[in-house]
Amino acid sequence: MKKSYLLIILILVGIIATLLVNINVRAWDNGIAKTPPMGWNSWNIFHENINETQIKQIADTMVSSGMKDAGYIYLNLDDNWMANPARDSNGNLISDPTRFPSGIKALADYVHGKGLKLGIYGDRGAKTCAGVAQSGSKGYEDRDAKTFASWGIDYLKYDNCNIPNGSDMKTDYQKMQTALANCGRPIVFSICAWEYQSWMPSTGNLWRTTRDILDQWDGTGNAYGFVGIINSIDQNSKYTSSAGPGAWNDPDMLEIGNTGCTVEEYRTQMSMWCMMASPLLSGNDIRKMSQSIKDILLNKEVIAIDQDSLGKQGYRVKSSNGNEVWVKPLADGTKAVALLNRNSSTQSITVNWSDIGITGSASVRDLWAKADKGSFNGSYTASVASHGTVVLKISTGPVNTPVPTPTPAEISAFTKLEAENYNDINSSTIQIVDTVNGGKGVGYIENGNYLVYKRINFGNGSTSLKALVADSLTANIDIRLNSPTGTLIGTLKVATTGDWNTYTEQTCDISKVTGVNDVYLMFSGAVNLDWFTFAGSNTPTSTNTSTYTPTNTSVAFTGDFNGDGVVNMADIIIMAGSFNSVLGDNKYNLLYDANKDGVINMSDVMVLALKFNTFVN
Ligand code: GLA
Repeated sequence: MKKSYLLIILILVGIIATLLVNINVRAWDNGIAKTPPMGWNSWNIFHENINETQIKQIADTMVSSGMKDAGYIYLNLDDNWMANPARDSNGNLISDPTRFPSGIKALADYVHGKGLKLGIYGDRGAKTCAGVAQSGSKGYEDRDAKTFASWGIDYLKYDNCNIPNGSDMKTDYQKMQTALANCGRPIVFSICAWEYQSWMPSTGNLWRTTRDILDQWDGTGNAYGFVGIINSIDQNSKYTSSAGPGAWNDPDMLEIGNTGCTVEEYRTQMSMWCMMASPLLSGNDIRKMSQSIKDILLNKEVIAIDQDSLGKQGYRVKSSNGNEVWVKPLADGTKAVALLNRNSSTQSITVNWSDIGITGSASVRDLWAKADKGSFNGSYTASVASHGTVVLKISTGPVNTPVPTPTPAEISAFTKLEAENYNDINSSTIQIVDTVNGGKGVGYIENGNYLVYKRINFGNGSTSLKALVADSLTANIDIRLNSPTGTLIGTLKVATTGDWNTYTEQTCDISKVTGVNDVYLMFSGAVNLDWFTFAGSNTPTSTNTSTYTPTNTSVAFTGDFNGDGVVNMADIIIMAGSFNSVLGDNKYNLLYDANKDGVINMSDVMVLALKFNTFVN
């Protein structure tokens, strides 16, 4: 073979090998972090000085400031939450008795009670970076993962300090990955090893691509290799193709609001983190946020770029004298574009449609100005402040707007309301479980979770609730109307049934409710729920007569039993569950009795069939 051919072949092999290393073909799918995790972390502002009073105040503020509603869900403890030494005499991790006297489980309960999730910090070595004795998870991976799960932890940041000789980074992280996969609870796995390695996307949900971030614009020359905002952007942008749903490059936490940078520079951190589909973990004292910092952290249109379901990391398409154009394709076919100015003076920056793969005329919205700029042919130019970023959403043609969720049909409160047919949920851990007689229900409920059943019609009034539940512990279910903080109409104090598979009907009184309401079941403690129903003055009192004639003929027969807005096979299947039953045998199936003759049979199916494939509402 000629020397020149050999050279070409070698070059080609090299290119292919590089592509294989950089393209993440097999991300770890543990079912969570499908969009970049959002929350708050203690390190950037409090460093090692954390305690439970302050963390609870942060949880309160995440709710009251609107952060939770904007998507910041994870409240993450960083280093130094542990006791010194960090383990009890059995080798289990324990929290510092002075700073976290109630323990981490109690903190998790508190945080979950606010509708948030709790994250924690550990290390693959012998000690965490704070250097506390016995604080590392090396050799304790399974035990520590189980401890975290038993406390209700939802997120683990796993650091890279104090590594014993002979350790292998990949092996250590994969050990913890396996331990988390087997711990019985979905826990986001955040690899913090200060650099990208090709095995990380198949090992964690996110991985740090940089050393620690500084509250500075440019950290070039830092003795530890720590990085400023602009350096972090440059390093993180090298691994664009590795990011996707469930697996994210992590350029470290936000410094927004920590006073070392200008408001423009902080806006650039938010803009570029969102363009790069990065985790958004705020790191400021949110108890004392100025309005300008809130405006940055809470800009929902910019956050939507980060959280876009396509999960593409944006990339630089043009760079000239410190003026840059970046693009991020979005799920609806539009494109997010960032115009980034690295210069020390205001610059005019132009995005040409050819830079971002579109032609003709396109409409432009400025997401910081929150303004539609109009329709432009071929390009758009904006003035960008020093170290600032303009973020645009650019659409050509009709945007694929998401199909709006249909309003659920009204459902009678006096029918059996299947627990798994909820319309809304505030938890990612609740699962549909098998219950009794081939039925389904909900399980894995935790303190602070709630389920919403929309448009429940209480007719002329209902005064009690009955539910089929299983519980090896005890739990309370508060029944509220129309919002998580709406009117409390009663509490079902669930007595233990002995185990999670033994179901009993349990009842409580409620204050009289009439008309149509959304029902919120608010859980304190764990319980399995198969179904629930309401009863009252206008519902049948007899449960045992085959000659029963329904008295509530006002119950509307919509045919849409699962409330998804359309009458189809799914509804026939629900109806079939009560087939040939007489209403007196089962007073909950009043809704299926289309012709009101007191029995569910083929004639009712015929009525339903006439409505087949029609939309309710
Ligand atoms: C490392 C990590 C930081 C932080 C500290 C805590 O430096 O990179 O993000 O967790 O440890 O000690």
